[in-house]
This record gives sequence, C-alpha cells and structure tokens, in this order.
Amino acid sequence: MTTATTEDFHFLQQFLLDRSAIVLSEEKHYLVETRLLPVVQRAGVGSIGELVRAIRRGDRDVEVAVVDAMTTNETSWFRDAAPFEALRKIVLPEVIAANVVRRKLSIWSAACSTGQELYSVAMILDAEFSEVASWKLDLHGTDLSTTVVDKARSGHFTALEINRGLPASHLVRYFRHEGGHYVIADALRSKVRFELFNLAKPWPPMQDYDIILLRNVLIYFDVATKAKVLEEAKAHLRPSGYLLLGTAESPRGLVEGFHSMPAGGTTIYRKEGA
Ligand SMILES: C[S@@+](CC[C@H](N)C(=O)[O-])C[C@H]1O[C@@H](n2cnc3c(N)ncnc32)[C@H](O)[C@@H]1O
Repeated sequence: MTTATTEDFHFLQQFLLDRSAIVLSEEKHYLVETRLLPVVQRAGVGSIGELVRAIRRGDRDVEVAVVDAMTTNETSWFRDAAPFEALRKIVLPEVIAANVVRRKLSIWSAACSTGQELYSVAMILDAEFSEVASWKLDLHGTDLSTTVVDKARSGHFTALEINRGLPASHLVRYFRHEGGHYVIADALRSKVRFELFNLAKPWPPMQDYDIILLRNVLIYFDVATKAKVLEEAKAHLRPSGYLLLGTAESPRGLVEGFHSMPAGGTTIYRKEGA
C-alpha cells in the first residue's frame, strides 16, 4: 500500500515540477515512498495512490502536504563556514560601507528552510557589526514549504538542531531553554521576517537587496529554471550587491553579469555594473 505505481510516480514527478520546479529523477522513486508515507498516515488515507487521487480532485491540503514532504530541508547554523567567513570579512564590510548614508541594509535568504541561515546572518550582524544596530535592517527569509517557514518563524529548535554548527557562546547569548526546546531570543527574532515564496513562479514586484543567499536550492532545478531564478536574483540585487550560492552551485554558463570572487575556500558573486 505504501508503494507508488509507475503511473503515480509520473503524476507526482509532473506535479512537483509544476509546483516547485524540483526535478524528481527516475531513480528517486524510493524518495516518493519514504517521504510520502507520513503524509499518507496523517491524511488518514490508505495509499500513495489515494494521495494522488486527492491531488487530482484539487484537495489543497494534500497538495501542500505533498510539496512540503518532497522538499529537502537540510540546513544548519553557519553552514559550510566559508561563506559566513566571506560575509564577515568581505561582503558585510563592503555593503555596510556602501550604505553608510542610507543607513539601510537588506539581506534575503531566498530558500531559508527552517531559518538557521538567516538567524546566523542576524547573529553575525548583532555580534560583530554594532555600527548597524541603529540602521533599518531588513532580514528576510523565504521558502516554498509552509512547514519550514512556520518553524523558522517560531524560532524553536531541538537539541539535535542546535548541535549542528551553533557555537556554544551563541547558544548562551541568543537562546533560552523552554519546554525541552531552544528558543531564539526575542531581540534577535524581532529582527527577521519569514514568508512563503516560490522561486520557480514569476516573481511579484518586490524590493532590491544588498545580499541574496540563494544556497543549496538551485541544485534541485533544471537548467532553464536555474537560469531564470539567477536572472531574477540579479535583477533584485542592488548595484554591487552580492549573491551567495551553495558549494555545488554557480552562475557560470547560466547568467551573465556576476563577477566571481574567490574568498577563503568559497566563491562569492558580486553584481557587475556598479
Ligand atoms: C537544502 S535546503 C537549503 C536551506 C539553506 N539555504 C541552506 O543552504 O542551508 C533547500 C530549501 O529550498 C526550498 N525550495 C525548494 N524548491 C523551492 C522553490 N521552488 N522556491 C522556494 N524554495 C524552494 C526547500 O523547501 C528547502 O527548504
């Protein structure tokens, strides 16, 4: 009952592509089963086939649950270290200097998962860039998945999640322990905002950012979608703004107009044409 027929798999492949641009290759058949079994149980239906029928009927709750379950939300604090070192040493000092007169800074974590990426940036700003404490900061996190956006907003993390990359000093400084969870301090949480946003759909009119973190999400898209998303990200960067990608991601061959800068074991991308 938990196995997906070939027809179910092909339906789900197309459904996921339409909704999220996530490409589910043939060898990911197993992933449909492991990820959708909990959805089958929660929805109180008997099989993946019944989930498929619910989607065909337009059951919105099942649609959202299936997309949520099929996203990979792997993340951690200060993930990969090097991009955060580049933020500290190069990107933030430069964009802060460029914004001294405006006294504004806008940073977008554009596939934020449960929020660790954006909260890590907020901690760096708070701990190491006191000169922006009185500026207008817009620290924005977005994701396709409602489950992760809700969790990011809640600021509640388990001990296991905390153990993935958070320095002990930051645990003491930015969390309280409450009901078996670690909860982000209100002072930090009030500096960030989280919303749903689907990178693969046409982007609505929106503000520009000084820094966009678009990390570990392009890997799930096909080439045409990667190129489209990178073009949009470039269009929403301020002059000389920075784009940070995941280790396995690059704009090379997909979009023009970024200057690649090696930075301590990673590469960062500055928008050209300041
Ligand atoms: C592997 S996580 C990366 C999280 C974080 N950026 C990091 O590097 O640790 C990928 C995230 O991309 C989100 N995602 C997948 N497709 C998306 C889309 N079309 N629009 C927005 N977010 C998407 C997933 O929900 C997931 O939370």
